[in-house]
Amino acid sequence: MNFQILIEDTGETYACAEGETLLKAMERLGRKGIPVGCRGGGCGVCKVQVTQGDCQRRRMSRAHVTLADEAQGIGLACCLIPQSDLALRVLGQLREPVLRAVPRAFTV
Ligand code: FES
Repeated sequence: MNFQILIEDTGETYACAEGETLLKAMERLGRKGIPVGCRGGGCGVCKVQVTQGDCQRRRMSRAHVTLADEAQGIGLACCLIPQSDLALRVLGQLREPVLRAVPRAFTV
């Protein structure tokens, strides 16, 4: 079963298989420059904010995601596994590569 992930910043959606992390599925978008670091919650390059939907959270570095961040749905995409369709915003180093590649027709 696939979940649909909406990137609110661009209006795009992508599919994420059950048990797959948000980052792994996002890599299939083929965006040049999507920062993929440790894939283990340690480097902080893949920060997102989940605004709707549920996901399971794996252990991630408190240096990058504080308890206050977590309360706002902020987490590291390599440690988040969707449990439903969801919507997210890209943050930090993930923002530029994700937004840069959007065709002009999608930008307002
Ligand atoms: S890739 Fe390092 S924290 Fe996600």
